Amino acid sequence: MTEAKPKILVAAPLPADLAARLAEAADVWEASFQEVARAVEEKDPRLGEIEGVLGTIFVKMDEAFFAQTPKLKVASNFAVGFDNITVPAATKRGILVCNTPGVLDNAVADLTIAMLLGLARGIAANDQFVRTGAWAKGPAPLTHDLRGRTLGLLGMGRIGRVVAKTAQAFDLKVIYHKPSRDSALEAEGIASYVERDELFRQADFLSVHCPANEATRRSIGTREFALMKPSALFINTARGAIVDEAALVQALKDGSIAGAALDVMEVEPIDAAHPLCQLPNVLLQPHVGSATEETRRAMIDLAVQNLLDALAGRQPAAVVNRELLAAAQ
Ligand code: GLV
Repeated sequence: MTEAKPKILVAAPLPADLAARLAEAADVWEASFQEVARAVEEKDPRLGEIEGVLGTIFVKMDEAFFAQTPKLKVASNFAVGFDNITVPAATKRGILVCNTPGVLDNAVADLTIAMLLGLARGIAANDQFVRTGAWAKGPAPLTHDLRGRTLGLLGMGRIGRVVAKTAQAFDLKVIYHKPSRDSALEAEGIASYVERDELFRQADFLSVHCPANEATRRSIGTREFALMKPSALFINTARGAIVDEAALVQALKDGSIAGAALDVMEVEPIDAAHPLCQLPNVLLQPHVGSATEETRRAMIDLAVQNLLDALAGRQPAAVVNRELLAAAQ
């Protein structure tokens, strides 16, 4: 008698070869993130059967979700961030939470630098300047240099480190703040540590590279923007939830800061009528830090492998709640 395949929920886009690989190993229930939300709301009995989930950051896996998935062994996120998952609720039930660290560092760092350059040099505004014929009426406004100025990084993990290293090519002085200092990084001369308020005060460009969690949610607000230089630019390729968006809009309107480049927003997709979409000193991207073909392929490879390893009782490469591994040993 052949053993029944484990049932899994897939709420992430899959290339055909990986879809086939999963279908071989498991009985797949494919759903959109909206369908997953509806299934939770309607207490869909299929949830009670699943042993694995592969989801994007739009799939909310909270207490209500896990309460309906008693057989779940693994929640594999197709992302490095996991703020869509209530990790303590998963840990309490012995469910491994997996993510995709490392493989997207370069892509996100590239976009961070691109947005910094784009904003400082008015790339999007100048594109419009040419297309609308404004050029015929006179020269474009002058923009700003990067070289010799100070880049402040709030958070210093894998992505922050690549941003800091890349910034050296632009002769930027890099300062950073995070709860625990990175002495190896400091010894390498890549960035120097400053207290949190000093980071906001000294930075010509302030870029966010910390995770969204209870400690960081809306942690950048009116107080922080007031500390910044009126000429400063604010860049966020991490998570919108870290910023108090109303305070950011106010700071951009009243000149507390000069501009913002955002790949992430509190609500995504952002409503086109949102004040951030109306301001001229804002450069926006649709959460595409990791969205290159190569990087997304590496991420989905890792996310699928994490899922298959956990289902087969092997240790996945990237586990968020590692305390479960220690407990299992
Ligand atoms: C994207 O935002 C990710 O967390 O991977």
